[in-house]
Amino acid sequence: MISSCNTLILFGATGDLAARMLFPSLYNLQQDGLLPDDFLVVASGRSEHADDEFRAQVDAALARTIDAERYEAEASKRLTDRIIYSAVEAGNTKQFEALAQRLADRDKDRVAVYLSTPPALFAPTAQGLADAGLVTPSTRIAMEKPIGHDLASSRAVNDAIGRLFEEERIFRVDHYLGKETVQNLIALRFANMLFEPLWNAHAIDHVQITVGETVGLEGRVSYYDGVGALRDMVQNHMLQILSIIAMEPPARFDSTAVRDEKVKVLRSLRPFTPETAKANSVRGQYAGGAVTGEIVKGYDEELGKPSDTETFVALKAYIDNWRWAGVPFYLRTGKRMPARHSEIIIRFKPVAHSIFGNRGLGTGLEPNTLVIRLQPQENIRLSIMAKEPGLDRGNVKLREVGLDVSLATAFAAQRRRIAYERLLLDLIEGDATLFVRRDEVEAQWQWIDSIISGWQQAEVKVAGYAAGNWGPSSAIALIERDGASWHE
Ligand code: BG6
Repeated sequence: MISSCNTLILFGATGDLAARMLFPSLYNLQQDGLLPDDFLVVASGRSEHADDEFRAQVDAALARTIDAERYEAEASKRLTDRIIYSAVEAGNTKQFEALAQRLADRDKDRVAVYLSTPPALFAPTAQGLADAGLVTPSTRIAMEKPIGHDLASSRAVNDAIGRLFEEERIFRVDHYLGKETVQNLIALRFANMLFEPLWNAHAIDHVQITVGETVGLEGRVSYYDGVGALRDMVQNHMLQILSIIAMEPPARFDSTAVRDEKVKVLRSLRPFTPETAKANSVRGQYAGGAVTGEIVKGYDEELGKPSDTETFVALKAYIDNWRWAGVPFYLRTGKRMPARHSEIIIRFKPVAHSIFGNRGLGTGLEPNTLVIRLQPQENIRLSIMAKEPGLDRGNVKLREVGLDVSLATAFAAQRRRIAYERLLLDLIEGDATLFVRRDEVEAQWQWIDSIISGWQQAEVKVAGYAAGNWGPSSAIALIERDGASWHE
């Protein structure tokens, strides 16, 4: 890979993600002196804007999204002065040529393209760039999710982009990988001696991954309906978390070694059948209710029509390999949950033999639990058993106490970065470690397709849950019948 890109062509520049995340991230990178001196952003959307008009829009977005103490009008101007705007509609050759004209004096080998558009536009946009002479063997391209809606369509997108760009120059974005907390999972596992010897089926009873959101449809009707929680959250973010939790230790922290290990996990996920889809998964859809004290409408009502799209999904998954044989991974995610909270629970097995009481009964002895809280506050808590102070005439009294590491406190002086800061910088500098490789995304879809086809064949319908709850009651039953319970 060559050195840093100094031209970023951003498609979807008038969209919500650009305003909320991408431009604020570029602002922060600029403030930290991390953008090349001659950096230029070519912003592109379907609507026509003069450069100055678009710059004013970006400035307004920065003023809205950046913390008051970090926003400086002068710094915002420095960034917006580096932005030019060129309207382009996929398929419009003239507009692509006009865009190329504006880049006439730029080094084409140092161009990065960022597609923050509906996925149907990925291939025509990439082709338009190529036809306008803007794609060289060094050009990098980043793509937002979703890459397709099933395995076949994701292959079609990957094939189309792959005809124009080598795999090592394709940067598939999963913004969870840009989150400090998710990267910290790698540090927790591989920078500590403590956990790795126990990180397997011998010592671990089960794993839970929960990503709860309080928001509902958020005006994303046209995207979300027909997509649902499984494709929107599990296919990408949750499977990426799962693969980091479950992967073998990579030999190096680089893009090939890490992604080689992750894809092995994804390929080892046990496919669902109609029978297991019925038994080991739950689909839910929120009805009206109250979330954090606010009365909210049901999904159908927000949508304006009945729908079978799930806004909640819970799964019991297995990874069929040596390390994880027989260990259930319980995953759940949903909209309109009681709290915005994401966490990973590693529940260890009971001690092999209890010397306290009658096999531990009546003593309070519990298996250890490691709670890795990703959102809202980053926190790691290991519950360990301790003796309650006292003279213990009967059984020894044991109680769970937490070894707590609040990363927000430990690193209080450091600013928590937007996930996209890291990802944009890695794109500019050409490091693909935190991006999703083609084989990963296809393995993810392959597994998701098995669930969807299981649902279709077994006719698994959505079950209602009142907004402000952790999904339908069947989601509780899914884990409780195994003698475990969701960590709350
Ligand atoms: C997106 C999904 O990928 O992730 C959204 O499309 C979801 O539905 C969002 O709300 C969650 O991201 P975060 O960073 O807020 O946890």
